[in-house]
Amino acid sequence: MKLTIIGTGYVGLVTGTCFAEVGHQVICVDNNESKVKLLQAGGIPIYEPGLEEMVKKHVANGRLRFTASTKDGVENSDIIFIAVPTPPQPDGSVDLSYIEGVAREIASAMTSYKIVVDKSTVPVKTGDKVAETIKRYCKAKVEFDVVSNPEFLREGFAVEDLMKPDRVVIGVRSQRPVAAMRDVYTPFNAPIIVTDINSAELIKHAANSFLALKISYINAVSVICEASGANVQEVANGIGLDARIGRRFLDAGLGFGGSCFPKDLSAFIKISEQLGYDFALLKEVQRINAGQMERFFKKITDTLWVLKDKKIAVLGLAFKQNTDDVRSSPAIDLCQRLQKEGAILRVHDPKAMDKAKDILKNVTFVEDMNEVAEGCDALVIATEWPDFKKLDLERARKALTHPILFDGRNLFDPLEMEKLGFIYKSVGR
Ligand code: UDX
Ligand code: UDX
Repeated sequence: MKLTIIGTGYVGLVTGTCFAEVGHQVICVDNNESKVKLLQAGGIPIYEPGLEEMVKKHVANGRLRFTASTKDGVENSDIIFIAVPTPPQPDGSVDLSYIEGVAREIASAMTSYKIVVDKSTVPVKTGDKVAETIKRYCKAKVEFDVVSNPEFLREGFAVEDLMKPDRVVIGVRSQRPVAAMRDVYTPFNAPIIVTDINSAELIKHAANSFLALKISYINAVSVICEASGANVQEVANGIGLDARIGRRFLDAGLGFGGSCFPKDLSAFIKISEQLGYDFALLKEVQRINAGQMERFFKKITDTLWVLKDKKIAVLGLAFKQNTDDVRSSPAIDLCQRLQKEGAILRVHDPKAMDKAKDILKNVTFVEDMNEVAEGCDALVIATEWPDFKKLDLERARKALTHPILFDGRNLFDPLEMEKLGFIYKSVGR
């Protein structure tokens, strides 16, 4: 198939590359010319395991190319995917200006039948608006269909999640685009759900909000575990073995962040409000999540007392493991709270330090994780990078002025840490 993706970011670049991997002819469009030039020169603007070699392979074999021209992308493909940002507004509603702008660009470039697919996460009923916009801005008589095809990729596992999706969701307003959309996804050998556009759009928000709810649930349980001397990881293992619950997304810690959960929760709450329903349950999910950060920060101040001029080492800046993305990162939030109290920070992250340098000022970025604790009064773990489990704890204990470790992602074992002589604080244990 000949496919175009508009918006070559975490979602668009990975989606386009995986489409090329299964044999499609792909054009990736982006309005950021420097990003397009970087990609054309073989550079990769984001970190995703497995992405770089896959991009290089398909640029070399001619299946994947990059351009800043929407017109080029529309004229040379049959199906156009929109994967541009849908950022949250302060009141929680969604900024759809990029979607509307791209829909107009596509419309003005259309001279024959096209399928326009919305992959970006959008509020329910956006598909109708995109269809109206295209109708208004395209030349008379040009036929098209609008499809909703939300993505479920997790950053840091995006290639894996796209190559082996649990399911593909396709929302349509007529049967005409169904066969072509099936042809796009058949090579992925995953269940394909064809439904109406509104249901497809809601599946995305409902899924993300449920995952966030699961995390807030175990975080609330972690508070009870601490108060009752239980171990939240044991509780998570125990309930997770029930096939109806499942162990994944039951890791208590600093709470969730990233460019999706916080945004999608606020959007879903806002949409529900506009549709006449007060989604109080999801507001509680947000409240519990914010509470996790407050509680963990209080652990630090209760233990260290005055933070002003204290030297604190922080391991982790990305919003989660396996990514360089620092958008709405709990780790960055924690660093900024510590700085606000006058703490002096030494920080390390395996992949996110470049992106963090745009946000975090007056901190010492340390290349080697085993050097971050030098001369510090405490060590904090803020992101669940598996590498951090290989930290040289003996060396860290000696490097710290006092052997104090705050583990926001429960990477270490409390008994082990006590044996090593640490004052060890974690979450729910
Ligand atoms: C974002 C949101 O995070 C996600 O929820 C939504 O489903 C899709 O958009 P992401 O890929 O993470 O996904 O965004 P980002 O990494 O910022 O990439 C967006 C790309 O679109 C950028 O490269 C930007 O230059 C490009 N863009 C933006 C366009 O090409 N045209 C536009 O009008 C706006
Ligand atoms: C999420 C959804 O998983 C994905 O399906 C959707 O397409 C986009 O949003 P993502 O935001 O990339 O993906 O990361 P995810 O792995 O879901 O983690 C989100 C946040 O939750 C991270 O901050 C992570 O640290 C946190 N998390 C995750 C927990 O605190 N506990 C858990 O058990 C799992």
